[in-house]
Amino acid sequence: MIKSELPPSATVVVAHPTLQFEPTKEVDTFRNYEDSHLQDSVSRAYRNSHTKQTYEYAKSKLDQYGSLSTGINMSVWEAAELLNTIVDESDPDSDIPQINHLLQTAEAIRKVYPGEEYDWFHLTGFIHDLGKILLNPRFNEPQWAVVGDTFPVGCRFDESNIFYEYFKDNPDYNNSLYNTECGVYEKHCGLENVVMSWGHDEYFYQITNEQDQEMLEWVKKFNMFDLYSKDAEPVNVEKLKPYYQSLIKKYFPDTLRW
Ligand SMILES: [Fe+2]
Ligand SMILES: [Fe+2]
Repeated sequence: MIKSELPPSATVVVAHPTLQFEPTKEVDTFRNYEDSHLQDSVSRAYRNSHTKQTYEYAKSKLDQYGSLSTGINMSVWEAAELLNTIVDESDPDSDIPQINHLLQTAEAIRKVYPGEEYDWFHLTGFIHDLGKILLNPRFNEPQWAVVGDTFPVGCRFDESNIFYEYFKDNPDYNNSLYNTECGVYEKHCGLENVVMSWGHDEYFYQITNEQDQEMLEWVKKFNMFDLYSKDAEPVNVEKLKPYYQSLIKKYFPDTLRW
């Protein structure tokens, strides 16, 4: 659905984000999963997600939402506004309205990658968390089925996951179908054939259905802006709206099926 191709990395000279993107707080004060003021709700969200996200559950949610047949149609901006009704309990860095996080991420990207050539990257920043609308009462999904981290299911849980210990209470942890290195998959089967834990990222991927060419490099760049732009200073939503509306118009149809 996104019309423009990602620029081939070999031909694009990119600014180096680590040199130019300066978070307003020390990087190691972000992503505190040990003793932040939001620690209780964050660890509860991760415990629920890691114990309840099984291979069968993720597949059932893919069936439910993958066909985009909820009957809900709305524009990208409407979805962004709907996001302001929800709170992401898994996030230790942000308790500001979600639309501010979208715009902070997008604006942090735009600072380091200015210009029309990268407008698709600005828009990526703006839309990246729209899948969290699943927390709105119109969808009414629980926190553990929407936010927190994304990880492959159907194979062994990787120890690098935050709160890895919670996986020990997931039924798949002791299921020999799923707890080997490759589990239900063949080696090199391709990421698009791997079932990921169900959540806002997987849901929005289903809606936009972008193939992941050249993707890893850009995902890594993107992560930095997503994770470290959550300073407390609010962005001016009304001032930024025209620019992002113009990008939405360029890359998306007027309404999407959700
Ligand atoms: Fe996210
Ligand atoms: Fe985000």
